[in-house]
Amino acid sequence: MGDCARRVIRHRRRRGRRGLPWQRPRTLYRVWVSEIMLQQTRVAAVAPYFRRFLRAYPSVKRLAEAPLDEVLARWAGLGYYARARNLHRAARMIRAGGGRLPRAVEDWRRLPGVGPSTAGAIVSLALDRPAAMLDANAQRVLARHQGLDPAARAALWRRAEELLPARDGADYTQGLMDLGAQCCTARAPDCPRCPLRRDCRYAAGDRPAAPVRAKPPRPRRTRWLLALRSGGEVLLQPRPPDGIWGGLWSLPEFGGRAAARRWAEARAGELDWVEGAPRRHQLSHRELTLRPLRAEVGRAQRAAFGGDGRWRDPENPGVGVPAPVARLLREAGGD
Ligand code: ADE
Repeated sequence: MGDCARRVIRHRRRRGRRGLPWQRPRTLYRVWVSEIMLQQTRVAAVAPYFRRFLRAYPSVKRLAEAPLDEVLARWAGLGYYARARNLHRAARMIRAGGGRLPRAVEDWRRLPGVGPSTAGAIVSLALDRPAAMLDANAQRVLARHQGLDPAARAALWRRAEELLPARDGADYTQGLMDLGAQCCTARAPDCPRCPLRRDCRYAAGDRPAAPVRAKPPRPRRTRWLLALRSGGEVLLQPRPPDGIWGGLWSLPEFGGRAAARRWAEARAGELDWVEGAPRRHQLSHRELTLRPLRAEVGRAQRAAFGGDGRWRDPENPGVGVPAPVARLLREAGGD
C-alpha cells in the first residue's frame, strides 16, 4: 500500500485531465478562484466563467477593488452566490493585510469560503506541496480503497494525511480528483483501469451494502414574478442580502397572483395582464416554480415604482440576475 500515492501520481501524468484553464499558469490566485468555483459546480460549467472572471480580475488586487455588485454580476449563472461574496470579502481581507496571498494551509483556512479541503487543494495544487484534501471525489476514492465508511470523515482525514506523498503534491491532489471523476465514479467505477485496484478493498469485493438513501423530495414553492415593461425596459429589484440570491437583482416577486397584481395596480392603475407559462427550476434545496405575469406600464407611471427598483434593458441589465430569471427576461424582451 505504501506506493499508492506514487500510483495515483503516475496515473495522473499518463491519463489525467489536461488543458483545464486554471492549470496553466498555476498561480495561487488562479487556483484559489478555480477551487471556489469548482466547489459546487462541474468543470465544464466552470471553465468559461473562470476565463471571463480572470480577464476581468487578473489579480487579487483587482478583485478587491471591484464593487461587490459587479463581481456578483460576473458570477450570475454559476449559482451559490455566497461563494462570490466570500471570495470578494477574502480578497479585501488579503488586500488589507498587505496584498500577499497566504502560503500555509492554516492561513487559507482563516479566509471566508475556504474550508479544510479547499485549503489543502489550493496549497497542494498551486505550490506543489503535500497537503491533504478531501473533496467528494477524494472521499469516495479513499473510502473505497481503504474500506472505510465514506461518512467517517475523521478516519478519512487521518488516512488522507497518512497517505500523502513527500513530494509531487500537485499531481497527487489532482490525481485523486481525476480518479474520482474519470475512473472511480460514484455509479460505475471502472476498476479494471484503476491504478489502485490491486490493494483496493472495494475492487476486492469488500463493499458495504449500498445504503439506499432515497433523497427526500425537495420542497416545492411557487412564486409570481412581475415582468413590468415600459419603453423596452423592465423593472428590477435588489434581492434581500441574506437569501440564496442575495446581492443579485430580480423581478418583483410575490407569493400569489392577486398580491402581485394589487402591488402593481396600486402604483400604475389598471393594467392588461398576460400570464406566461409556469417554469420549473431545480434549486439545490427546493423546486421552484416561477410564474411570470406581464404588463405594459406607461412612461408616466414609472415614477410610481420608485423605491429601490430600477428600469433596465432586459437583454443587458448590467447587474447580476439569477439564471432562471435571466431566461424570463430574455423572453420578456423578445415579444
Ligand atoms: N474539482 C475541484 N477541484 C478541481 C480541479 N482542480 N480539477 C478538476 N476538478 C476539480
